[in-house]
Amino acid sequence: MDERIIATDEQSADDWQYSLRPRRLAEYIGQDKAKQNLSVFVKAALSRREALDHVLLYGPPGLGKTTLAGIIANELGVNFRPTSGPAIERSGDLAALLTNLQERDVLFIDEIHRLSRQVEEILYSAMEDFALDIIIGKGPSARSIRLDIAPFTLIGATTKAGALSPPLRDRFGVISRLEYYSVDALKEIITRAAQILHIAIDDKGAEEIARRSRGTPRIANRLLKRVRDFAEVEGSTIISEEVAARTLQTLEVDSAGLDHTDRRMLDAMIKKFRGGPVGLETIAASISETRETIEDIYEPYLLQLGFIMRTPRGRVVTEAGYNHMGVTYPGTKTVQQKLFDFED
Ligand SMILES: Nc1ncnc2c1ncn2[C@@H]1O[C@H](COP(=O)(O)OP(=O)(O)O)[C@@H](O)[C@H]1O
Ligand SMILES: [Mg+2]
Repeated sequence: MDERIIATDEQSADDWQYSLRPRRLAEYIGQDKAKQNLSVFVKAALSRREALDHVLLYGPPGLGKTTLAGIIANELGVNFRPTSGPAIERSGDLAALLTNLQERDVLFIDEIHRLSRQVEEILYSAMEDFALDIIIGKGPSARSIRLDIAPFTLIGATTKAGALSPPLRDRFGVISRLEYYSVDALKEIITRAAQILHIAIDDKGAEEIARRSRGTPRIANRLLKRVRDFAEVEGSTIISEEVAARTLQTLEVDSAGLDHTDRRMLDAMIKKFRGGPVGLETIAASISETRETIEDIYEPYLLQLGFIMRTPRGRVVTEAGYNHMGVTYPGTKTVQQKLFDFED
């Protein structure tokens, strides 16, 4: 991937963001539904002195899954043991992790949809019975033994809940979906981060960055830092709306948080395909990107903004999408008509 400043994936340059991670549920901004649910379950587990039920967190990158998992462990007052699906290569790796857990610890598996089949199967009995079935020896003398492990809580995180196998998914007692953040919530996150990083920013400045952050705290923090760098260089003492807007324009992040590539995609859909419907493959080919990149990276946010729509015939640019690009909307009728035209 290139260095898109609005990319949602974690970049090595984001290490400093760890210092911004809230440690308690009360500091975790937004996601009220998930927070409410989890705080009830955490309280119940604490009062029963039992391990919290296994939790699955899913949602787009950068929304705070890892952060929330750490907070849960913290609220429970237990160890947080993070790992990830791709890091657990063999069943032995998982067995080692599991046997080292202390009672009620949180084992966090990021990208849990990427666990291999064999590893996943070990996880089933571990999650259900807190036991490991291990095969010792080979051939006719092989035998299976059952090892007890400490009751623990598995917290799985994934960006693709659909990619999780049903048997694994069914073993989670709590499934929480994280949503894109509102501008208000992002504003709070930015204000909090600015305090921690000693960055002077006013209310309007925070709001300007929030509006361009694609509903994603990771991007909000990154944009804040970039704007601060610019502000410092040009000698601004405080990040105002004007400073934020100007900087982000220079960085080619527009008023809705779209960057050059998002705009190129909308532009192609409007100009080359008259707003659609147009298939993903065709869009991809026209802007020299892969279908997967469009599907996983560009499309979700454009859908979220309501700038494009999915139809059985392909993707369509909506009126809001046309407005944002400053092109006159041809009208709903035309789009419906076009859909109809294609149906033979
Ligand atoms: N609810 C929140 N409140 C404040 N900051 C947050 C929140 N969620 C995420 N962040 C910030 O965003 C960054 C990315 O969050 P992270 O948990 O790594 O996302 P994910 O694991 O979903 O990709 C963190 O470093 C944290 O500083
Ligand atoms: Mg994460």
